[in-house]
Amino acid sequence: MQGTVEQVLTTKRLVIGHVIMCRGCCCGDVNKGKPEFPVDWLKMEWKRRGLLKNIQLTISGCLGPCDLSNVASISDAAGSVWLGNIRHQWQYDALLDWASESKAAEVLLPLPREFDELRFDPFRPAARALVQASISEVTL
Ligand code: FES
Repeated sequence: MQGTVEQVLTTKRLVIGHVIMCRGCCCGDVNKGKPEFPVDWLKMEWKRRGLLKNIQLTISGCLGPCDLSNVASISDAAGSVWLGNIRHQWQYDALLDWASESKAAEVLLPLPREFDELRFDPFRPAARALVQASISEVTL
């Protein structure tokens, strides 16, 4: 979205970040040959570690890029990172550890390097270029 609009509303539920994990039509659907997504386990661990009031966890419907299931979008005040092809339990374990460390630091820390190969950009290059150009204009 372009342009700056003054924030009018406020919320009492401020967080340091937001993790959206897709469990839509494809992600986690083992009947479609997709990797399992341990939704109940992740929600339970997120709660057990006291992450909820610090890092919002949302299990969502389809986020769009089904071909890269399982998909996650992680955002904070600085922007968002998208991950796809999450397929191993150790990746969910690493995500939980990262979230716990981020909670302690009171800011979303850089994701572990193991997630580098899972990153992708869901936005069209031309749209991203236009956004970058408009940001450059504003900062000049
Ligand atoms: S079902 Fe996850 S991106 Fe579509």
